[in-house]
Amino acid sequence: MTDYAAILETIYADVQPLLVQGKVASYIPQLSEVDAAQFGMAVYCLDGRTYSVGAAGQKFSLQSVTKLFSLALAFSLEGDAIWSRVGREPSGSAFNSLVQLEYEQGKPRNPFINAGALVMTDILSSRSTASDTAILQFAREICDRQDIEFDLAVAQSEHGTAHRNYAIAHLMKDFGNLHNSVETVIDSYCRQCSITMTCTELAKAGSFLANHGTIPWSERQVLDASSSKRLNALMLTCGTYDAAGEFAYRVGLPAKSGVGGGILALVPGEMAIAVWSPGLDETGNSLAGTYALERFTSLTVRSIF
Ligand code: DON
Repeated sequence: MTDYAAILETIYADVQPLLVQGKVASYIPQLSEVDAAQFGMAVYCLDGRTYSVGAAGQKFSLQSVTKLFSLALAFSLEGDAIWSRVGREPSGSAFNSLVQLEYEQGKPRNPFINAGALVMTDILSSRSTASDTAILQFAREICDRQDIEFDLAVAQSEHGTAHRNYAIAHLMKDFGNLHNSVETVIDSYCRQCSITMTCTELAKAGSFLANHGTIPWSERQVLDASSSKRLNALMLTCGTYDAAGEFAYRVGLPAKSGVGGGILALVPGEMAIAVWSPGLDETGNSLAGTYALERFTSLTVRSIF
C-alpha cells in the first residue's frame, strides 16, 4: 500500500529550495502581504483517510479555485444551458485577458478564466439575489464545515483594484452576455474569490469531483457521473490557464489553481489533493505547488495517463 504520509514528507523536504523563488500576487494589495515561503499539502482519500504536511492547517485565499465551486453549482442547477454563454476551450492567454473577448463577441473561452467565472456568477445571480451566499453555502457543504467564511478584507482589497474585471464585465454586458448589473456581478465575484480554506479543508471540498460527482460522506449527488467527468476534463484543459498544457505534461491530473497559491488536483476514483504555497510562477500558478504535485504523481505513480 502506498505510504502517503512518507511521500508527503519527502515532497516537503524537496520543495524547500523553491519556496523563495515564487512571487506572491501583488495586484490584490491584501495578497501581497502574505509570506511567500510557506507550504502545505493535504490528501483526502475517498474512504476518508487524510494525510497532510507543513502548513496544511493554515487558511489561505482560494481566489480562482472558487471558480470550480461556481461552475459546479451553475452546472448542477442549469445543466448544458450554461454552454450557450461560455465555451470549453483553453484560452491560451492570461486569466484576466480582454483580447479574445472582443473578437469572440463577449463569449468567454471557458469558465475558469475571469470572464467565464463572471458569467457563472451572473447565472447564479439571476437565480438568487445573494449568489455569493449561495456559493459560500455550497463551499460549506462540500467540505462539511459550517465555519468556512469570506475574507472581507481581501474582497474589499480586490474590489478596489478590480479595473480589469470591471472592463471584462462591461465588455460582456455590451455583448449581452451579462444579465445582471456589472456592480452586482463584481461584488459577488470578489466575495466568492475571498473564501478561505486550509489545504485539509480544500482537499475534502474537492472530493466529490474525484468521486464522480457525489459527496463521499453524505452520498449527495451534486453532479451526475457524466457531468463530473466533463468538469474534470475542463480542469485538465483549462484549470491552470495558459499553462494547462505544461501542467498536464508535468503533473498529469485535472487541477484548478488560484493566485492565492492554492491548487486543487484530483485523482478520479481515488482522492483529492490540495497544495498551497503563495509564491507564484509567471503564469500565476503556485511554483512550489506545481512542483509538489509533479513529485506526488511521480512518487505515487498515480495520474490519469
Ligand atoms: O479576479 C481575479 O483576478 C482574482 N480574484 C482571481 C484570479 C486568480 O486566482 C487566477 N489564478 N491563477
